Amino acid sequence: MAPELQEENYTTGPAEPPRKTRVTVVGSGNWGSVAAKLIASNTLRLSSFHDEVRMWVFEETLPSGEKLTDAINRNNENVKYLPGIKLGKNVVADPDLENAVNGANMLVFVTPHQFMEGICRRLVGKVKADVEAISLIKGMEVKMEGPCMISTLISDQLGINCCVLMGANIANEIAVEKFSEATVGYREKKEIAQKWVQLFSTSYFIVTPVQDVEGVELCGTLKNVVAIAAGFVDGLEMGNNTKAAIMRIGLREMKAFSKMLFSSVKDTTFFESCGVADLITTCLGGRNRKVAEAFARSEGKRSFDELEAEMLQGQKLQGVSTAKEVYEVLSHRGWLDFFPLFATVHEICIGTLPPTAIVEHSERTPKM
Ligand SMILES: NC(=O)c1ccc[n+]([C@@H]2O[C@H](COP(=O)([O-])OP(=O)(O)OC[C@H]3O[C@@H](n4cnc5c(N)ncnc54)[C@H](O)[C@@H]3O)[C@@H](O)[C@H]2O)c1
Repeated sequence: MAPELQEENYTTGPAEPPRKTRVTVVGSGNWGSVAAKLIASNTLRLSSFHDEVRMWVFEETLPSGEKLTDAINRNNENVKYLPGIKLGKNVVADPDLENAVNGANMLVFVTPHQFMEGICRRLVGKVKADVEAISLIKGMEVKMEGPCMISTLISDQLGINCCVLMGANIANEIAVEKFSEATVGYREKKEIAQKWVQLFSTSYFIVTPVQDVEGVELCGTLKNVVAIAAGFVDGLEMGNNTKAAIMRIGLREMKAFSKMLFSSVKDTTFFESCGVADLITTCLGGRNRKVAEAFARSEGKRSFDELEAEMLQGQKLQGVSTAKEVYEVLSHRGWLDFFPLFATVHEICIGTLPPTAIVEHSERTPKM
């Protein structure tokens, strides 16, 4: 057959070119902007994807009076949440949530977790039935019936499949293309996980799929609670051995809590980037550690809310709210004695215990 005829379909005429996959990023904070940059570099490179990556922006007005969306589209840079980094000209910021997801085949959710319930409510009936989603969000919702992971919230509310991507990923470091790794957690469809791997992977960002959504997501969520504990240790100037001990105890509690909630969680997941690597980077360098250090140094004079507003300029802390959510699950299920570190972090955050309790209480052997 002549090469020029090979693509022809003789019964229905010329074959339709395969539809290109459209990607939308829902969220445009520090990590959301970096995710858009990673994805945009790949949609340009991979012919199966539409070049344009839409990014939903929670609109705000900058001190200059300009809308954040306009500033992003004019400068190709998120001047508020990721200044100094070009996102790629194919990233298009859109303040209209419904318009941003319209026609998308792959949705990347990356907002602070407390906003997701409202966002999902707005998206019901607005996304394609066969759209694939991934959540980069760390945190959980605690409902009367029990804890609900964000990927489950997305799946249940929108009736779509949802993978997760977590890892040792401090956004500002990936933004300047420093080598790091991440883990994609998937439920059943390995081919979809591979598509997410393809969409995120670059020479400096290595992504590995594992079949354990809950394990991957709980690692990403719970390590923020341990990072708060690590920040207390830093604020109290207790040194590296103490911090390593807190990280070890924290990892043990992360694993026990995850497996008590979901028996399907795999031990091996804790050795992936989403597990021990994310725990290490967050306890050394993340924003939760930083603000918890300032909290301990203030000796009870400053609240987390005040420090978050002052130190993070609109970025959100996750560890304090996650500690509260975990505490609610522990109390509700009668598990408080099994998780002294998790319980103590919350009690320090709300001021019922002093920061020094982090070593006095966490070192108790859990009653398992
Ligand atoms: N930054 C990181 O290094 C990093 C790394 C890995 C994962 N994460 C996770 O990614 C998720 C998003 O974090 P981020 O760093 O992109 O955000 P961020 O904390 O930098 O920024 C906060 C974002 O929330 C938006 N926002 C404020 N009020 C809102 C509202 N009412 N409704 C919806 N959005 C609102 C802001 O516009 C901004 O985009 C979080 O779950 C975080 O834990 C962050």
